[in-house]
Amino acid sequence: MDLSNKVAVVTGSGQGLGLAYARDLAAHGAAVVINDVNKTTADSAVADIVDAGGRAVAVVAPVGSTETARALVRGAVEAFGRLDIMVTNAGILRDKVLWKMTDDDFDAVIDVHLRGTFTCVREAVLTMREQGDGGRIICIGSPAGQRGNFGQTNYSGAKAAIVGMVRTWAMELVRAGITANAVCPVAVTAMTETVPIFAPYIEAARTTGALPPIMRREVGMGSPEDAAGIVSFLASESASGITGQAFSVGGDRLALWSHPELTAQSFHDNGWSADDIAGRWTADFDAALQTVGEQFPAELTAK
Ligand SMILES: NC(=O)c1ccc[n+]([C@@H]2O[C@H](COP(=O)([O-])OP(=O)(O)OC[C@H]3O[C@@H](n4cnc5c(N)ncnc54)[C@H](O)[C@@H]3O)[C@@H](O)[C@H]2O)c1
Repeated sequence: MDLSNKVAVVTGSGQGLGLAYARDLAAHGAAVVINDVNKTTADSAVADIVDAGGRAVAVVAPVGSTETARALVRGAVEAFGRLDIMVTNAGILRDKVLWKMTDDDFDAVIDVHLRGTFTCVREAVLTMREQGDGGRIICIGSPAGQRGNFGQTNYSGAKAAIVGMVRTWAMELVRAGITANAVCPVAVTAMTETVPIFAPYIEAARTTGALPPIMRREVGMGSPEDAAGIVSFLASESASGITGQAFSVGGDRLALWSHPELTAQSFHDNGWSADDIAGRWTADFDAALQTVGEQFPAELTAK
């Protein structure tokens, strides 16, 4: 897996998963633009990569605006001459149930995750198309966007939309040889370590040094490093034919999500009145109703 002629931007890479992606890309030879709002963690991420023999620079700026997206692409081109890989990872949470969620809670999350993904990918694609030799777009989604999650109107909306954009970009960018994929990771980071159903296992792992198999395999949750390989793989030549896909990764599990498909259908001449639907509901649709939310092992939800 040789990325030594490649240049990557990883947003939100001062810590957590973004840092693990940046380190892994650099370890495979890519030059990396580290981005974060936190200058201390961004500088230390650069130092880490450079100390390990890699190439990295920092652009400290809040992802969301076009101005930041342009600064990130400019940072890659000025420091390393080009841009091949854009990883949109920066993110925040402002969790509240719908009826308590403020406009600010909603806008803050949409701005970083959804607008930030849009602006960064748009600017990256402008440069990749100009360069004329393809590229890689890797957008970070979440199981919460795929299935919904209690208390996460803003976040699940943004993350679901990111996967929707990825499917559209896969179509729009195929001719330019640019792939677009989504990765939905699950890892122990500042964002997840206090989630109540995970907390007892994460706490225990501080003593034992490892999460148990139920977490690593059934929940699919591990360290940020466990989730980094898929990003480098998607960035590589080996993944040149993979586009428009959504992966889940975490702990010992790597998985591919299906796209939404019609799961039950029925036909009625001249369309469907409410009474027609009521008459056919039980026979044609009842058994096909979908579950919502992530499905966790009973051991976790019983605690
Ligand atoms: N940890 C998980 O299990 C998990 C699960 C699903 C999705 N994700 C996604 O993975 C990504 C990384 O999450 P993490 O768990 O490493 O979280 P984290 O909080 O440890 O790291 C997020 C990083 O993004 C930075 N950041 C926040 N706002 C920013 C902005 N506007 N511009 C630039 N940087 C900004 C933060 O300073 C931080 O360094 C996020 O998109 C998150 O939604 C994480």
